[in-house]
Amino acid sequence: MTDPLIKQFEHAGQGQVFRFWEALTPEEQSSLLEEAREIDLEDITDLYKSLVLANQGDHKDFSNLEPATYISHPINGGDSAAWAEARSIGESALRNGSVAAFVVAGGQGTRLGYNKPKGLFPVTPLKEKSLFQVFAEKILGAQNTFGAIIPWFIMTSHVNHQDTVDFFEKNNHFGLHADQVHFFRQGRMPAIDNDGKILLSSKHSIAMSPNGHGGSLRALVRSGATQIMEGIGIEILSYFQVDNPLIKVIDPSFIGFHIQSESGMSSKMIPKAYADEKMGVFCNQNGKTVVIEYSDLPEEQTQATDEAGNLKFISGSIAIHMISRDFVKQMGSGDASAPSLPFHRANKKIPTVNDQGSPVKPKESNGVKLEMFVFDALPFSDKTIVVETQRSTDFSPVKNAEGLESPKSSKEDQMKEFASWLQAIGQEVPTDEKGVPVQSLEVSPLFGYDAQSFEKSWNELDEKPDLSQTTYLE
Ligand code: UD1
Repeated sequence: MTDPLIKQFEHAGQGQVFRFWEALTPEEQSSLLEEAREIDLEDITDLYKSLVLANQGDHKDFSNLEPATYISHPINGGDSAAWAEARSIGESALRNGSVAAFVVAGGQGTRLGYNKPKGLFPVTPLKEKSLFQVFAEKILGAQNTFGAIIPWFIMTSHVNHQDTVDFFEKNNHFGLHADQVHFFRQGRMPAIDNDGKILLSSKHSIAMSPNGHGGSLRALVRSGATQIMEGIGIEILSYFQVDNPLIKVIDPSFIGFHIQSESGMSSKMIPKAYADEKMGVFCNQNGKTVVIEYSDLPEEQTQATDEAGNLKFISGSIAIHMISRDFVKQMGSGDASAPSLPFHRANKKIPTVNDQGSPVKPKESNGVKLEMFVFDALPFSDKTIVVETQRSTDFSPVKNAEGLESPKSSKEDQMKEFASWLQAIGQEVPTDEKGVPVQSLEVSPLFGYDAQSFEKSWNELDEKPDLSQTTYLE
């Protein structure tokens, strides 16, 4: 008897998913059925109609776009007293143990050309520590300062879950307790071809891929992570991407501003360096904060300047947020009444099979992947704030193998930050014309994870190192 699910797929015009059914082993049949069960056929039809057939852009409405307001950093005229107050509120929350770290690490990292989970990528200038080790040590450093456990939630995807967990186990969780590190997998979506047909990646498997970092809100609830948070008193998640070793994993001032404003979701911005910089932009639309991807922001707004000649839409999104547990639950409950994030399409070359079931590696884009973006949750939050930060202390991602946002540029930026901590306490560091230390310099986050913690450890050193030589401070 034909499985009812197969009938549903046939009925929805997706019978091709089962076209090799008769030739499959019983195990292959059951794994194909299991994948098919994850798919909401109605969603696929609707998304095909709106995103592919009607070719609607991701953001359809660009009316009434105004630059988002934000809290300025003291170096750009922000109120130092307000920042100090926010810092002290954030520090109390950390001492109370109500903040957890949260990294989204489910992406496929194809641009970097690295075939392991991106968090395993060696990234520091001297010791070649992995991204995951850097984050773990920043968490450990902050725990030592605040005297409370900072749990860490790590979102993986089907493609990299086991390798990620194995890496942490092999490395003893980099000094963290195994039970403070919580892994969970995000959801998936099937890729469709340009006619809306779900693609197979082999005779017995569907071309499924992670459903975007926007899938994190639903996955946090479905995996039980929000329940764990409730059980251990975590109110706030400090959200960041896996590709950015410069991130302040724990930033008391940002935490404090988030708490003070009673915001559901808050974001960090940096001023864009130039109009065409490839960065999402914070805007205000009809009283709500939204992020418009650089590829969608109309040219007029991209280039607009104010009377002083500065970029009008200057707030670049660097994908760093504070998210309250209650807001995660509101967005991710999966109830029919819960708001749902829109899907975005990305044209991709998707490996698939031909009618004989032989593998095909397309040279041109042959279909679309469907993803949700976490920043699309911002307009659903009753209150939202955007806080300015400095590029040099928060943002130097590794995205490309060479050039901008590459391992080389990120290592240079890490060394510049380490040098700035030394210079701030009056130490001379020989640097080149770009400000990069001439000799390799690395600071373990266990020695210092920001300027304050660095200064404290430096003052406790019995013997100061010779900074004209390669230096590692641990
Ligand atoms: C992203 C932002 C961009 C921002 C930039 C800053 C989007 C669409 N754009 O671009 O506005 O200026 O970062 O660095 O987000 N991930 C998952 N699951 C997925 C997909 C991605 O966990 O299904 C994770 C990745 O592991 C990574 C992060 O999300 O940590 C970013 O993904 P990526 O697709 O590389 O975003 P960018 O295009 O670099």
